[in-house]
Amino acid sequence: MSVIFDQSNGQYSLHTKNYSYIMQEKEGFLLHLYWGKKIFGDCSYMFREQGRAAFSPRMENCDGFILDDIPLEYPCWGRADMRTPALEITNPDGSVIVDLRVVGRRIEKGKQGIKGLPAVYTENESECETLVVEMLDSVSNIAVELYYCVLEDYDIITRYTKIINKGDSEVRIDAAASAAVDFDHIKFDVISNFGTHCRERNIERAPLTHGRYIMSSRRGASSHVHNPFLILTSPTADEVSGDAYGFVLVYSGNFTAEIAATQFDSARAVIGLNPDSFCWTLGAGEEFTTPECVMSYSGEGLDTLSYNFSRVFRERLARGKYRDVRRPVLLNSWEACYFGFDSERLIKIGDSCAELGIELMVIDDGWFGKRNNDNCSLGDWYVNEEKMPGGIKRISDHLNAKGVKLGIWFEPEMISPDSDLYRAHPDWCLHYDNRPRSEGRYQLILDLTRQDVCDYIYESVAKVLREGGISYVKWDFNRNMSEAGAMLLGKDRQREVDFRYYLGLYSVLERLNEEFPDVLFESCSGGGGRFDAGMLYYMPQVWTSDNSDAIERLRIQYGTSLVYPMSAMSAHVSASPNHQTAHVTPFDTRFTVALTGSFGYELDPTALSSEEQQKVRETAELYKEYGEMLAKGRYHRLRDPHNEPCSAWCTVSEDKSVCVAGYVLTHVRLYGNNERVQLRGLDPDAIYKERFTGATYRGDQLMNFGLHAPTTLEFHSILWILEKID
Ligand code: GLA
Repeated sequence: MSVIFDQSNGQYSLHTKNYSYIMQEKEGFLLHLYWGKKIFGDCSYMFREQGRAAFSPRMENCDGFILDDIPLEYPCWGRADMRTPALEITNPDGSVIVDLRVVGRRIEKGKQGIKGLPAVYTENESECETLVVEMLDSVSNIAVELYYCVLEDYDIITRYTKIINKGDSEVRIDAAASAAVDFDHIKFDVISNFGTHCRERNIERAPLTHGRYIMSSRRGASSHVHNPFLILTSPTADEVSGDAYGFVLVYSGNFTAEIAATQFDSARAVIGLNPDSFCWTLGAGEEFTTPECVMSYSGEGLDTLSYNFSRVFRERLARGKYRDVRRPVLLNSWEACYFGFDSERLIKIGDSCAELGIELMVIDDGWFGKRNNDNCSLGDWYVNEEKMPGGIKRISDHLNAKGVKLGIWFEPEMISPDSDLYRAHPDWCLHYDNRPRSEGRYQLILDLTRQDVCDYIYESVAKVLREGGISYVKWDFNRNMSEAGAMLLGKDRQREVDFRYYLGLYSVLERLNEEFPDVLFESCSGGGGRFDAGMLYYMPQVWTSDNSDAIERLRIQYGTSLVYPMSAMSAHVSASPNHQTAHVTPFDTRFTVALTGSFGYELDPTALSSEEQQKVRETAELYKEYGEMLAKGRYHRLRDPHNEPCSAWCTVSEDKSVCVAGYVLTHVRLYGNNERVQLRGLDPDAIYKERFTGATYRGDQLMNFGLHAPTTLEFHSILWILEKID
């Protein structure tokens, strides 16, 4: 049993395979007692009331708790806890007080979905037990249900919150976090992602200091800038040792992920919807459910924490046919020809794909309306017959006959002012009637809080897919939100726009997933501007970055791997010199870096020399051979490209029989530096044979001494494929 409630002392114990999470009821409050390596028994003694008032008042007549100094599971604003709250409500009488006390609890088998929102799922009831703690503010009649879903075998606990207005008047929710955790110390390093377009998900690690440390977005997307997760580690934790706690939000819009060190040297983590851009009017009898937060703990450093998240996201968040099968080797036309193509050119590229063993060709942008550059036609999702006589069908028929599938790019949430759609519906974009609108890449964002707009988006994509011949969709989103008014919502509800927008988007994606279960959807937002767990529920892979430079991708992929699976990262071999950075990089390095992700090419195959074409042929075959194992195996970060003159990693199959390892030298130091790479996760007693050299090694040698790496040629790399022979 992974959820136990002990009536005698009010203790809740949640146990996964390797850790425990303990809470306790006391005078109606739900206290946090412990989160860490597995423990059993009565934990009541862990609650320490220190009576540190320090200007923080006590509850009722100076007898009660100093609320500001006790560890609370779902802290609320208004009484005497002055730290960051999880829940803030404005009551019908204008008061801003929420005072929640436990009134009941349920323990349920399995895990329910969250209506309208992406969430981790289970395949059978035995995979999860759910604890629901029922709380009530007896003055306002606001009920709150705290959900804790314990996926024991995955070492995962997910949390979300349902708020139910049992009163008879409207209230306003001003903040509603998915989860909060109070720790009784501040000895943490905080690890987060930061970045920008083409430089997403760098890692930043810093000791926690007093004050609030907040990663967040108000950009109408999870964004390139921060990513909706937070990791806390013990100060000396590394990949293989130390405590590591992680929180990942399953949501694609505005979020906050905060950790604050308090006056009493305790720490509070709060993660969820960003209250700076959110309010929700909850009518009498209505419910509101927050997005889900996925949490994990590892007592063995970051490697295991990343494994826990990547495993659950790959196996129990991503869905559909492509969840478990190797993704097709694809060629994306964007860097091959940008807008400069017609059917003849596409057919030539497609023929070349067929000859080179590439399984899918993607027409990226430029096929619809009158789109020959990026200043028009978003919304006009019908083929440009001038450029492509015979339409998509002609190309897909031609390619399909040669065994190559076809994919196509859409940016359905957008509208160009120069489009037939805009001319017909100028009011369909997010805007305020009396204010100018900012354009990004000559485009506005459609108002997905409207059902008619959602229906239009769904129908326009579905219509193209229903014509057949399309196996893949790249779904793009190329600007962030500003002046995000939804004119039909009414003046009191404008702070609901972000959340309602995502409810609209998720509903469209759900319908498309249902109608087209065989289509592989790839999410994109100028590369990785919406690389989040919310999108992964609908699309199992994401264009990781618009920066396709292999050397730059080392950092981007490393940072992304902290919580996301490699199978979610689309990674392509691009041309050299690279189009973004002008780096000249050997083909083998570009391949070694791309191989770990969902693999493809981002170049014009007809422009390659015959030697390079041969390389494409060979590398496509290698991916076909190892792609499934790479997606399902356990990924290990071995050398950190942020802080070292190199990067290295390996993926080991579940049964430890195959290991694919890569090393790239990013900065040469003259006369070398005796570089060797120690692998991880192998069977120490097994003998492994390296595919390209035929050399054999014992697993313990590979892990403890390692393999010599190249030290003299910048941007050169080595790929090792090791197979167990004994
Ligand atoms: C975005 C994407 C690119 C490409 C272009 C097309 O920038 O990230 O991969 O699809 O749009 O306009």
